[in-house]
Amino acid sequence: MISSNLVNNNGILYFNGISVLDLVKEYGTGMYVMDEERIREKCRAYQDALHKAFGNNAKAYYASKAASFKRIYEIVQEEGMGVDVVSLGEIYTAMKAGFDLKDAAFHSNNKTDEDIRYAMEHGIGCFVVDNKEELDAINDIASSMGKKQNVLLRLTPGIDPHTFAAVATGRVDSKFGSSIETGQAEEMALHALTLTNVNLKGFHCHVGSQVFDSDVYIDSAKIMLAFIALMKQKHGFVTEVLDLGGGFGVRYTEDDPYLDIAKEIERLSVCIKEECASHGIAVPFIAMEPGRSIVADAGITLYTVGTVKRITGYKNYVSIDGGMTDNPRFALYKSKYTVYLANKMDEENDFECSVVGRCCESGDIIQENVKLPSSVKRGDIVCVCTTGAYNYAMASNYNRIPRLPVVMVSHGKSYLAVRRESLDDIVRNDL
Ligand code: LLP
Repeated sequence: MISSNLVNNNGILYFNGISVLDLVKEYGTGMYVMDEERIREKCRAYQDALHKAFGNNAKAYYASKAASFKRIYEIVQEEGMGVDVVSLGEIYTAMKAGFDLKDAAFHSNNKTDEDIRYAMEHGIGCFVVDNKEELDAINDIASSMGKKQNVLLRLTPGIDPHTFAAVATGRVDSKFGSSIETGQAEEMALHALTLTNVNLKGFHCHVGSQVFDSDVYIDSAKIMLAFIALMKQKHGFVTEVLDLGGGFGVRYTEDDPYLDIAKEIERLSVCIKEECASHGIAVPFIAMEPGRSIVADAGITLYTVGTVKRITGYKNYVSIDGGMTDNPRFALYKSKYTVYLANKMDEENDFECSVVGRCCESGDIIQENVKLPSSVKRGDIVCVCTTGAYNYAMASNYNRIPRLPVVMVSHGKSYLAVRRESLDDIVRNDL
């Protein structure tokens, strides 16, 4: 099974100890289901590995864009992690969950004055500053509030992360951050040091998401540490914090490699310590911002089959009661998923089909070239694996389809974390 919490029990799929058919009976479909223990396990994998390598001089910040709702912020706070937020919506959700914003870092390449003021008023720990306009705006707003605001500068180390283009961010020509190679990073840092109401704590980079090549992290750490050494030697600036951005890639199909978070962090930490020693600089506080690898494989989506269309000699379609509105990742990135027929796990998967949604467009596809049992029919339950990250978070109301609920499973019991949107929710803002 692609996900460790899925088991075939006499032909029925069980998720973290519960029959998915029982979940379907209780909550209906489509629905996202998430495994609370798995989320906690992944939080601990990052936190423990970072602490083992760097003691208290390191911390993981959950990149909440991967899945943002109140319960997630409660869980990561209980696990001692910080959070990375990118909008007032995420900040507000975190606050509503009782998350202490001093442990939050505010990203985004275009923060409005309103964003900056709101975050500062609510005691955001740190801004990850993308550009000069933002830096100046933070300085002005902090000055008007009589504050000195902690900031990190987002830099681009000029690395190709070998992931799909839409989520690659570390190259010189990226829309994010300032490039080290062009000298813009140094200019930004020197400018920050002239400002009286910002406190430059250090530097951030994020080279991309769904990265499997661990050398990418090592190479970007080396480039960032060389920059940190240059800032010390040339300008006498001591960097307190180095934030290395998002986490490691996750397995969506049997073809994806398996990365051991603890081993990867151990390897990275050896490199960081060696580089610091060779540059003659102290090891800065190390931050990481995993999102996908915290929640992706803790989640599945369950749907009910509505129609099975056999176009003899051409193609087969299995339509489900969901689609690109709850999982736009195939439409956007051609993302691969593992799909099971959850109530017929003992039957042979000999029927090739596209699993498609019910939006009014042909691109509304969950997955192509799926193999399901040929007996597949209306009323069967489809399980799409590894949907915990960037699914609920990217859901829309296209075609006025209500968003799905998020059900959590913990210690053999289920509870609702996000309720299903109602038709009234759909017209809530219409005047
Ligand atoms: N830090 C920064 C600054 C980021 O931009 C991201 C992801 C992360 C951390 C978390 O990266 P992760 O650990 O999740 O790889 N919607 C796309 C993914 C977009 C990722 C954006 N930034 C998808 O569905 O694949």
